[in-house]
Amino acid sequence: MSDVKSEPLRFVERRKLLRGVAGLSGLPFMQAALAREPNEMPPQAGDRLVFVQGDRKGAVIKVEDLKLGGPQELAFPMDPSTKTVRDGNRLNEVLVIRLKEDAFDGETKPHTGGGVVAYSAICTHQGCDVSQWKTDKNTLLCVCHGTEYDPLQRAAVVFGPAPRRLPILPLSVEGGVLVVAGDDHGCVSSSMPHQSDLAMQAWSMPVVHPANVAEYLEFGLYGWALSRYSGNWVGLTALSEVVESGATVDLDAIAQRVDAWRDAAAVRAATGHEPPADGNLLICCSQPRGDVIIDL
Ligand code: FES
Repeated sequence: MSDVKSEPLRFVERRKLLRGVAGLSGLPFMQAALAREPNEMPPQAGDRLVFVQGDRKGAVIKVEDLKLGGPQELAFPMDPSTKTVRDGNRLNEVLVIRLKEDAFDGETKPHTGGGVVAYSAICTHQGCDVSQWKTDKNTLLCVCHGTEYDPLQRAAVVFGPAPRRLPILPLSVEGGVLVVAGDDHGCVSSSMPHQSDLAMQAWSMPVVHPANVAEYLEFGLYGWALSRYSGNWVGLTALSEVVESGATVDLDAIAQRVDAWRDAAAVRAATGHEPPADGNLLICCSQPRGDVIIDL
């Protein structure tokens, strides 16, 4: 069975195939998927990741909890609705590490969230924990027999006896609420004029007001980022005059401006602002629900 060049498989779609090869491959997420108890189920889309050990054992991991540049932290997925930590199967153990977002290769970056990448923590050689970080080579190390994995290249094996790279767990960074209020000041399509921004201000919500079609995208992204950064709900007005208008929009220009925004960590460093402890920038397993990407 080949290793690093193969395409990822989706467990749900290829259940029979994966069952057939489970005994040979020892693939962590695949075997975990055969379990039935909630705490034994493999990571599900929407799960949070929680610390496995230390003072913060069981606490949800946020981007800021991870030191940029490593080392990795060990984590288990947790169902956010039932608070069930999926620690009933060791094969669910993942490692998360935060690195520079632009350092990931093109194959890895789509599976990261906020510069954080997650891999199975189970070495593909003989199943030890991949728990060490080599600062001189920026590699994930399994100390049992010295295998090193490159986290920037989908955990490709760069040294040692492991036959294949670590399975990756796709992540996204979630958090933030954008409240869109449709308003009709001029009674264009309603019997009474109405205006929501004063109500939102009374609720201590920042409000952004797109004034044309182009600004809906930029202001929407801005409002979303503001919410994630501050921990507040953020309002966005949708006035009938603007919603019912049209325009030619330069999406590339908007993308360039958005790319130039400073990230939340930089703003926090400059301002000293601390978002709410239970607020934003959570690391989650990403969509689609029930799919787990596995390397064969
Ligand atoms: Fe990890 Fe052997 S178990 S290198």
